[in-house]
Amino acid sequence: MADPRAVDNAPPPQHTNLGYEEFAWFYERYWASDALRWELSVLERLILTRLQPGAAVLDVCCGSGHLVKALAQRGLSVTGIDLSPAMVELGHRNAPLATFHVADVRDLDPDTVGAFAAAVSMYDSLNHLLSVEDLRRAFTAISGCLGEDGWLVFDLNTMVGLEAWGAMSRADDEAAFIVEPRFDLASRRGEFRFVGFRRDGLTWRRVDTRLHQTWFEDDDIHDALVATGFEPVSQFDRAELLGAEPTGKKTVYLARKVLDSESEAKAHRGSEVPFGARTFLAERPPDRHPVRR
Ligand SMILES: C[S@@+](CC[C@H](N)C(=O)[O-])C[C@H]1O[C@@H](n2cnc3c(N)ncnc32)[C@H](O)[C@@H]1O
Repeated sequence: MADPRAVDNAPPPQHTNLGYEEFAWFYERYWASDALRWELSVLERLILTRLQPGAAVLDVCCGSGHLVKALAQRGLSVTGIDLSPAMVELGHRNAPLATFHVADVRDLDPDTVGAFAAAVSMYDSLNHLLSVEDLRRAFTAISGCLGEDGWLVFDLNTMVGLEAWGAMSRADDEAAFIVEPRFDLASRRGEFRFVGFRRDGLTWRRVDTRLHQTWFEDDDIHDALVATGFEPVSQFDRAELLGAEPTGKKTVYLARKVLDSESEAKAHRGSEVPFGARTFLAERPPDRHPVRR
């Protein structure tokens, strides 16, 4: 009998987030507001104080637009992009004055989305890319939408984080669901199997979906950033950045667009504090919750 815990060997989907179409409603209801709390704290610590009032910010893989709305309420000019039309529709509803585009992060076109002082991609969105090559494509595309010295902040699940994905279930008056996660070290892929029921008038509508995440190693992330015109500035254990004990589950990265990526890369590699170390490195964030060195 097939091992129910094994990650599917079926060929990976072209876009992992196709599963978000049906899942969007559940994501907004059960995940988005929790995410917003820590995402804002992270961004406040890393870039918000560095941006001019009204600065243009791109939320890459913006999901249901909760962060777009919160950043717009802070006076920033925010654009959200997401591959899932259902997510973008929720985004329009949640932040009607902001701009949204249905777009694949790997193919972002600055002529369509515009130029930005900063780009953010939160809640392990870039883990949804299926290869290092796709990650590079995404960084290249994001870099093309940033002005000189533009900031990039993103977080990624680590191997520890993907392995620690736990099963969960929930039921209330409107919906019920079960999540069964898997992680396969050989393929570096995590799979999030979701079965949910959503009230639809007098009946319940069933939603089955699978989302996939890839574990990217620090060296690959670093090299992809440098190769695509970014200076990797620093990285943090997310829990530690937020003032808790480090967990090793999620890493937050801060990078900056540079003009001459080659020379910046060399300079950075020669510095005393390599990008790949776990705790805060080359630069200290605005000091509210000191980060342990
Ligand atoms: C975990 S959700 C995070 C949403 C949002 N960033 C947040 O903080 O709540 C991941 C999002 O990434 C989007 N996504 C996945 N692959 C994508 C791609 N190739 N291009 C654009 N969006 C993508 C999904 O549609 C989904 O909305």
